[in-house]
Amino acid sequence: MRVTMIGTGYVGLVSGACFADFGHEVVCVDKDETKIEKLEAGVMPIYEPGLEALVAENVKAGRLSFSTDLTSVPNADAVFIAVGTPSRRGDGFADLSYVYNASEEIARVLEGYTVVVTKSTVPVGTGTEVEQIIKKTNAGAEFSVVSNPEFLREGAAIQDFKRPDRVVVGAEDDRAIKVMRELYRPLYINETPIVFTNRSTSELIKYAANAFLATKITFINEVADLCEKVGANVQEVAKGIGLDGRIGSKFLHAGPGYGGSCFPKDTLALVRTAQSVNAPARIVETVVEVNDARKKQMADRVIAACGGSIEGKTIGVLGLTFKPNTDDMRDSPAIDIVSALQSAGAKISAYDPAGVEEAKLVLNDVDYVEGPYQALEGADAVVIITEWDEFRALDLERVKSLMKAPIMVDLRNIYRPAEMAEHGFEYSSIGRPA
Ligand code: UDX
Repeated sequence: MRVTMIGTGYVGLVSGACFADFGHEVVCVDKDETKIEKLEAGVMPIYEPGLEALVAENVKAGRLSFSTDLTSVPNADAVFIAVGTPSRRGDGFADLSYVYNASEEIARVLEGYTVVVTKSTVPVGTGTEVEQIIKKTNAGAEFSVVSNPEFLREGAAIQDFKRPDRVVVGAEDDRAIKVMRELYRPLYINETPIVFTNRSTSELIKYAANAFLATKITFINEVADLCEKVGANVQEVAKGIGLDGRIGSKFLHAGPGYGGSCFPKDTLALVRTAQSVNAPARIVETVVEVNDARKKQMADRVIAACGGSIEGKTIGVLGLTFKPNTDDMRDSPAIDIVSALQSAGAKISAYDPAGVEEAKLVLNDVDYVEGPYQALEGADAVVIITEWDEFRALDLERVKSLMKAPIMVDLRNIYRPAEMAEHGFEYSSIGRPA
């Protein structure tokens, strides 16, 4: 099949490369000329394990190409809209201007029957809006609008695309369903469930999935706080409840609060949509509030671990991105934590394996260093914000000898309290007895 993917951001690029790898002929389009030039030269705009090789292989095989214009649209069987839907400044509604602009531009060049697919996360009703824009722009166009949300986790996006738990397709007619079946045919081999439903339902599935996962995380974070008060262990609580098949063990890691490009934005958009139709999503409203507050409170743990003041002290920070294996800093808890530590008078020495360039855009006056040990040199305390693998087996004796005081605040529970005590650390973590 011939596919045009509009938008070479995270979702567009990964989806385009994976569809090409399935054997389809894919053109990834972006207005940003420098981005396209770089992609043509094999330079990835984002950090995602395996992506560079996947793109290179498929370009070489002639299945994947890049363009700044829409000349591939007339011949395409399916055109995917994978542009950004950021939170609209001021009100938290999803900003759909990029989606609508793309729809209009596609409409002008449509030829023959084409399926237009929204891959971007869009509020319920957007598909209908896209359909109307296309009809208005090109009255004779023969097309269907389909919703096909993505469920890609950064850092594991290729695997999530190729071995998904499920694929969701919201389509209103059989012709479109046939095209979508053909596009995802390679997944039939692993018997991936493909949920066919109507467009609005599909659009809502995406928001409901992210809101549910954000709720699960927020739930276990509050249980962690409770554990600290009553001397219980949150990891064991998570295990104890997660073994119940109705609950499930995933997304029960307590930490500094969720961040990233999806959960904060999508929970907020769901809340706003729900309010606008007078069906308030009160649980999700609370999740948003609790998570925002949590990210801000994390710095207090560091201040407490330092005896109540960090004025003039140096804090070593390990990890800045919102999770490992990405360079993404969007809504990372590190932004709140580092800013709060600075406001309380601390100097920050920080290391992240991939996120430093992005971090520099949002965090000033930080001494960005080249490795984890450099971040600890002369530090009065260290805080682990992101659970990168390379922080999991630090030489603890070396860490101790480099630091001014052996104080560690581990917001991801990657070390064991007993082990840290043996090495003479004053160690605190999330929801576990010291
Ligand atoms: C998420 C969804 O998982 C994906 O399906 C969706 O399409 C896009 O949004 P992503 O944002 O890449 O993916 O990361 P994810 O792994 O879901 O983590 C989101 C945040 O939750 C991170 O800040 C992470 O640290 C946090 N998290 C996750 C926890 O604190 N505890 C957990 O148990 C899981």
